[in-house]
Amino acid sequence: MMPQTLPPDPTGATHIPVLLAEVLAGLAIGPGARVIDATLGGGGHTTAILARSAPGGQVLGIDADPAALRRVAERLADAVATGRLRTAAGNFGNLEQIAIAHNFLAVDAILLDLGVSSFQLETPGRGFSFTLDGPLDMRFDPTQGESAADIVNTWGEEALADLLYRYGEEHKSRRIARYLVQHRPFTTTSALAEAVAKAVGGRRGSRIHPATQTFQALRIAVNQELAQLEAVLPQCLRILKPGGRLAIISFHSLEDRIVKRWMQQGAATTIADPMTPAGWRERTPALVLVNRKPIMASEAEIQQNPRSRSARLRIAERITQQDMAAT
Ligand SMILES: C[S@@+](CC[C@H](N)C(=O)[O-])C[C@H]1O[C@@H](n2cnc3c(N)ncnc32)[C@H](O)[C@@H]1O
Repeated sequence: MMPQTLPPDPTGATHIPVLLAEVLAGLAIGPGARVIDATLGGGGHTTAILARSAPGGQVLGIDADPAALRRVAERLADAVATGRLRTAAGNFGNLEQIAIAHNFLAVDAILLDLGVSSFQLETPGRGFSFTLDGPLDMRFDPTQGESAADIVNTWGEEALADLLYRYGEEHKSRRIARYLVQHRPFTTTSALAEAVAKAVGGRRGSRIHPATQTFQALRIAVNQELAQLEAVLPQCLRILKPGGRLAIISFHSLEDRIVKRWMQQGAATTIADPMTPAGWRERTPALVLVNRKPIMASEAEIQQNPRSRSARLRIAERITQQDMAAT
């Protein structure tokens, strides 16, 4: 029998899967389930999904970060060896292409646990954290695209300010952007965090570091997180089997707004489904909402894992063929 939780990581870092019981119940994982974990991360959710779907269940675990894939493949080597876990490097913005390449279609469930993992945050060399000194990078896939340093050191003042405002909801975006442009180049996380603190003059009484929103904004821009999220949602519908479930955990309001709107629209609009005898039907909903309000972590979970405080879980079910024919 597979363990429900992973053994400790040799690096000492731990990533505690957020809302684990709620995800397993919401995705209705049972024996033999075929599941895509599109944000494999530390493999926490996948470990539990493999246990719950035994015997015979399979997981396709995707991550843009090659280091995450290597670590999970090593720690779940038995599941890889028996073919129960397949790992794929790639961006979930290309989910359909990846699923086709792995012959992993008409799946029972898809999980998206968005954002950054504790392993990434706690590895100074990845440049995600303002509390650990490291190169200003922040790419999920360190081999692709612009780093945070590229953005901070080359973008114009106005574009930088817009980015901080849009993705960080930073009200002092103009002041910070002006300061950064005057004092650049920046190559390390600590230098950037200090510069932001100087630019805003510190926030008295605030427990939140003044660079929190700047770092969030840069990470979102570097990884084009909102665009990738918008891209993956319709692909999930095409990959799920009728009756299949999609669970999405978001960690800030920009992500949650996208997920909420898309799910609400899907519950009210149509899906082109070649599997239904009637084909495309006007006003046939593409999905049903399993929960109307987002599921949040309990006080007990927040105590154990403070990262879960901002988590919001939304679950939808792709409409079944029977439901479609009945409308
Ligand atoms: C919050 S962690 C997932 C943690 C995982 N559920 C667990 O329990 O260990 C998010 C992971 O998703 C990956 N990720 C984020 N955006 C991605 C994208 N667009 N495509 C592929 N992977 C992505 C990150 O590299 C990170 O490893």
